[in-house]
Amino acid sequence: MKQIQIANTDIKSSQIILGCMRMNEAGKNPVDVIQTAYDQGINFFDHADIYGGGACETIFAQALKETNISRSDIYLQSKVGIRPGIAFDFSKAHLIQAVEGCLKRLETDYLDTLLLHRPDTLVEPEEVAEAFSELEKTGKVRAFGVSNQNPSQIELLKTAVKQPLNINQLQFGLKHTGMIDAGLNVNMENQAGLVRDGGILDYSRIHEITIQAWSPFQYGFFDGIFLGDTDKFPELNAKLNELAEQYHVTPSGVAVAFINRHPANIQTVIGTMTPSRIIEATEAADILLSREEWYALYQAAGNILP
Ligand SMILES: NC(=O)c1ccc[n+]([C@@H]2O[C@H](COP(=O)([O-])OP(=O)(O)OC[C@H]3O[C@@H](n4cnc5c(N)ncnc54)[C@H](OP(=O)(O)O)[C@@H]3O)[C@@H](O)[C@H]2O)c1
Repeated sequence: MKQIQIANTDIKSSQIILGCMRMNEAGKNPVDVIQTAYDQGINFFDHADIYGGGACETIFAQALKETNISRSDIYLQSKVGIRPGIAFDFSKAHLIQAVEGCLKRLETDYLDTLLLHRPDTLVEPEEVAEAFSELEKTGKVRAFGVSNQNPSQIELLKTAVKQPLNINQLQFGLKHTGMIDAGLNVNMENQAGLVRDGGILDYSRIHEITIQAWSPFQYGFFDGIFLGDTDKFPELNAKLNELAEQYHVTPSGVAVAFINRHPANIQTVIGTMTPSRIIEATEAADILLSREEWYALYQAAGNILP
């Protein structure tokens, strides 16, 4: 699988990441899930302190022991800054305490990357800077990034934070293409032309920030999966099926290839806890869709080009 170099780090990650948000779901086999992902070339695993109220990190650490994978074979990322019952908290005390919790549950001495999960409007960049410096100095976190942030929020953090911020995890997939739509409809009066993210796609390319696309198969905000939903998305599924047949892969593989094809070197964070679906998503990772195929998929998803 294609490797993505995270700028300013020695991290070379698989383009596909396994997201562990659903690892506490009943009836799943985390050992099989982790081993299958690794055998398919995935070496990067995404967590957050709030997934399953912490249970997902605990389950992951337990399961990892039953695989043939060592801690040093993989990259572990977690996210902090959301506090259920309070909202968001980027204070120094909370960030440090939250990371301590991640390390304990993941049974590791360090996180390869730490992301701030969702913007905290009460953020004081100096507090984040102090937290990051302490976490770096004590060897608890190797590299830092953000999630769901726009360019000016990143610039605000950079007024105090010394460490490079080279990852931004954002929702992106065939049915969630806002950061592309606006760029294709510059100065138009239609809805697609609205810039909702401050131009994060181009900003990320200019500043060598790796975008990690979360929920690649969802439409809306966890409204459901577009794959196979021929009632709501007949044209999109027809196109996915056609290309899947042509490339001898599955529609989910084509949906991943759509993201991976973008020259911004976007990573795709898949969240399935079904080993066969991990194989389906990864087997098409390196297919290079033609421009014609890519734009046909984009339009089949309901987007109109000017
Ligand atoms: N930064 C953020 O704010 C944020 C927010 C949300 C998520 N995330 C990250 O993104 C990761 C992925 O999110 P996600 O789980 O919503 O993404 P997803 O990969 O789009 O969706 C996975 C879900 O779709 C189901 N599914 C149904 N049919 C499928 C098929 N053919 N192929 C694959 N999956 C199918 C899976 O069920 P089965 O498990 O039963 O296969 C699973 O429940 C999370 O684990 C988390 O790491 C980050």
